[in-house]
Amino acid sequence: MTQGSRSEPILEVRGLAASYGHVEALSPTDLRLDRGELVAILGPNGAGKSTLLRSIVGLTKTRGEVLCEGEPLPRGDPVAVAARGIVLVPEGRGIFGPMTVMENLRLGAYRVRNGGEVARRYERVFDLFPRLKERLHQPAGSMSGGEQQMVAVGRAMMADPKVLLLDEPSLGLAPRVTVEILETLRRLNAEGLSVVLVEQKAPLALELARRVHLLSLGRTVAVIDPREVKTHDELARYYFA
Ligand SMILES: Nc1ncnc2c1ncn2[C@@H]1O[C@H](COP(=O)(O)OP(=O)(O)O)[C@@H](O)[C@H]1O
Ligand SMILES: [Mg+2]
Repeated sequence: MTQGSRSEPILEVRGLAASYGHVEALSPTDLRLDRGELVAILGPNGAGKSTLLRSIVGLTKTRGEVLCEGEPLPRGDPVAVAARGIVLVPEGRGIFGPMTVMENLRLGAYRVRNGGEVARRYERVFDLFPRLKERLHQPAGSMSGGEQQMVAVGRAMMADPKVLLLDEPSLGLAPRVTVEILETLRRLNAEGLSVVLVEQKAPLALELARRVHLLSLGRTVAVIDPREVKTHDELARYYFA
């Protein structure tokens, strides 16, 4: 198989482990994301979900390998990883409150100098989140939690990602806004974007995902087909298996 061929996973994590100081927060973990797939990661607080996403983009001290289309990603260099099209929407959103919505979005495409290309990407984000167009010149910090999450996802889309990694996008949001954000993810995925979604709201993640990784205490305890688990009870059984 030639490198970068279409049958290769777009993202492959092999034996990725991470520690903070001497404490291992993520035991060696494997994950495969095929092109156009949406894989969800579920697990209780402290399971290592954020650490896994942060390790994929090189924000933690890691062992193991991450490959994009068969080629190893640089380790410890999140900027280079983003340049390869692997973009993280971090837990807590990471937007800049005093800056306007437009300025926050622009940061996602800071490497792009071609004005026409930047304009095309803004239009794409406005198409996904029309509300952002109305709030373009407002400080991002003055908006609702849901709107701030739209800015965070919009900023990631400005980078024109191949793979979007989302860390609990629904955290702290009202149910209606959560559904709106997750529906947008469903649409992006249906249009071909490959997604890794960390989500506490298990039923919603199960609805969207092709495969679900269950993490507990820094380990993958199960990789399951979401059609096999429809209830919280069933899901809980995996945690205690
Ligand atoms: N910056 C950090 N320094 C030290 N320990 C951390 C840090 N971030 C997370 N941890 C620890 O690593 C483990 C996994 O955390 P995390 O990946 O944030 O879990 P989750 O996202 O599943 O809630 C937890 O025990 C947490 O306390
Ligand atoms: Mg987390």
